[in-house]
Amino acid sequence: MVQERHIFASYTSNPSPTYPELSASWRSCHACPSPLALRGASTKKVAIVTGSSSGLGRAIAQAYAREGALVACVDFSPLARSAIVEETAVNTDELIRQNGGSAIFGQTDVGDSQAMKNLVKTTVSEFRRLDILVNNAGISVEARDPLPLDLTPEESWDLTMKINARSVFLGTKFAITQMLAQDPHPSGDRGWIINISSIMGGIAGEGNPSYCASKGAVSSLTRQVAIEYAKDRIRCNAICPGYTQTAIFSEATKSGTSFAGMHRKHPFGGPGKPEDIARSPVVLASDDAAWLTGANMFVDGGYTAR
Ligand SMILES: NC(=O)c1ccc[n+]([C@@H]2O[C@H](COP(=O)([O-])OP(=O)(O)OC[C@H]3O[C@@H](n4cnc5c(N)ncnc54)[C@H](O)[C@@H]3O)[C@@H](O)[C@H]2O)c1
Repeated sequence: MVQERHIFASYTSNPSPTYPELSASWRSCHACPSPLALRGASTKKVAIVTGSSSGLGRAIAQAYAREGALVACVDFSPLARSAIVEETAVNTDELIRQNGGSAIFGQTDVGDSQAMKNLVKTTVSEFRRLDILVNNAGISVEARDPLPLDLTPEESWDLTMKINARSVFLGTKFAITQMLAQDPHPSGDRGWIINISSIMGGIAGEGNPSYCASKGAVSSLTRQVAIEYAKDRIRCNAICPGYTQTAIFSEATKSGTSFAGMHRKHPFGGPGKPEDIARSPVVLASDDAAWLTGANMFVDGGYTAR
């Protein structure tokens, strides 16, 4: 419980980095060999992945790098949040470079407007353009401490909406501004926005009022952006993962949700692994998904099929 409070406090009390500080904290590797373009593209795509230090974001950043994208890894902290050994051994951007890919890291609070603006600016100054934004960073206060709505502290609601929903609005706003200003990708497309929502963006979750509302906002905004910017050839889709074995998942299982129960709810092989989710953002940013926009894609081992 003490540790939980500590995690909660760290999201509220740390100030966002200013632009010069942010700039100084970016690390890059210009000497990396040129990998392949992202599948279906003739030019390497530049991707921002938020929440890249742990869990799904880490797996998505690696999947993009393997497909040849230049990746801006973005997180509150360069260090993985969890005690998952593979995640803490080496930071995501470093791992990508070790494997021959191109990646930079930027310390960013995704709920902060100026920090998100700077993130896009710094990515473009490093990689010259921005093609893909994955709004992945998110929190679940209620995974640690599930409560019915009448007992939910207002601070939990505000923090959850800030990190899970406001961040998607901000990231999308500044990414689209850049995508509209730059030359289109050689494919003729201007950009790909991929939001990591949740099954709880579409269904209810007991004891999770703030989380459900925040993910409902993400799923709804996905449709709105898709309609608004279809004329500009900017696609916007969301992935709605089922329970996936990351730091958030281990907090949920520690707070009383049984692993066996969770297993039963995912008919196809039980709760997922980050790699099970990470393939979908690659497809969504490729020519294989050329006519796909405004979709909320449930990648959940069958959880919501019941
Ligand atoms: N794991 C699941 O079961 C599951 C299921 C459905 C949806 N999701 C969603 O997937 C996304 C990733 O979750 P995960 O399971 O990988 O969690 P995680 O806790 O393993 O990783 C989340 C990452 O986001 C970062 N982050 C948190 N607040 C931030 C902030 N203000 N600014 C920048 N970075 C911040 C954390 O430092 C961490 O590295 C979240 O949006 C989550 O809601 C997860």
